[in-house]
Amino acid sequence: MNIPALMVKDHCKIEALLTDLEKAVEQDYSMMLKTFTTFEWELEKHIFIEEKAIFTSYHPDNVVEGYKMLPELTKQHNEILNRLNIMRKQLRSRQNITDVSGFKTLLMEHRSFEELEVYPQLDQALTEEQKQTIVAKIREMM
Ligand SMILES: [Fe+2]
Ligand SMILES: [Fe+2]
Repeated sequence: MNIPALMVKDHCKIEALLTDLEKAVEQDYSMMLKTFTTFEWELEKHIFIEEKAIFTSYHPDNVVEGYKMLPELTKQHNEILNRLNIMRKQLRSRQNITDVSGFKTLLMEHRSFEELEVYPQLDQALTEEQKQTIVAKIREMM
């Protein structure tokens, strides 16, 4: 499997975990906590893989065009991580997690941005050797 295929597969996994969380929010606290903990771990791991295993190897020929998407990618990741922190704080103070559907919208927009813009550009810029190294790193972490 190549990098986009592996990451799209992980996007599907994260979306399914978020659907579990939507259901768990309507149930009891312990179910919500358990489901959130799994979801949070998988999503943080995914973002870590993107930022530390994938994009550290991205060196496009056209630096001006190629780097344009990176500030947006980082900004979206920070927004997502910030929202995760807010949810974690709500759980720590034994409150219900709020606005899961708003978070889902944010996450799905981010997913589209990556799948339609970011990963295709990345795929063009990497050499076969770089791709193999990154795939090995992804497999190690997933
Ligand atoms: Fe991402
Ligand atoms: Fe992603």
